[in-house]
Amino acid sequence: MARPLALGVLLSGGGTNLQALIDAIAARALDARIGVVVSNQAAAGGLARARTHGIPSVVVPHGDFPSRAAFDTRLVEVLHAHGVELVVLAGFMRLVTPVLLGAFPARVLNIHPALLPSFPGLHAERQALEHGARVTGVTVHFVDEHADHGPIILQIAVPILPDDDEERLHLRIQRQEHRAYAQAIQWIAEGRIRIDGRHVLVDGAPIDADATLASPGVSQRTSS
Ligand code: GRF
Repeated sequence: MARPLALGVLLSGGGTNLQALIDAIAARALDARIGVVVSNQAAAGGLARARTHGIPSVVVPHGDFPSRAAFDTRLVEVLHAHGVELVVLAGFMRLVTPVLLGAFPARVLNIHPALLPSFPGLHAERQALEHGARVTGVTVHFVDEHADHGPIILQIAVPILPDDDEERLHLRIQRQEHRAYAQAIQWIAEGRIRIDGRHVLVDGAPIDADATLASPGVSQRTSS
């Protein structure tokens, strides 16, 4: 069997996406290992999750560095020192620079709690609710130098329900995030992903051409 793909997970918060990756690896649904968890926040809950599972963790406080590039230079050192092959942003609240992207070309992923390009940036669930959208979701994408912008690997749609508030919607989106990230990384581990400009081709991924999500549901039938 091929060597497991070495991940470096960057996070600033609670780390439920990290936990989902840990669980997917333990369940043998993801052929990867987590080489290191790095956080810019010493209090990030994700660091405790890493420690619980015996995963090396490193704190790199962004305030200690004179520039974003200097901060990223240190991140690259830490990631290289742990043999990382794929960088996974999982609630990492810093914009990355060409320093990190150049060290890991087409090897930096992000997950966003909306169907990009809708609702980029902070508080995506709140943005979707305030806009009155009926469907939102999850996007896993490659990272480029613009926030929430790089080529999209996978999206999962999630309906917005009439009684949703930010927290309820967030919890439903989060469940889909956990599936989506493990799946996208597994495709990369299997070498099934190719990037062609803005388009990401996934070799052999199942597609249901008739799949739809209507929110609210519709009773009208198609004529053909
Ligand atoms: C997720 O909603 C992710 O989409 C966003 O940050 C959040 C991280 O959540 N980029 P967690 O720390 O993994 O629970």
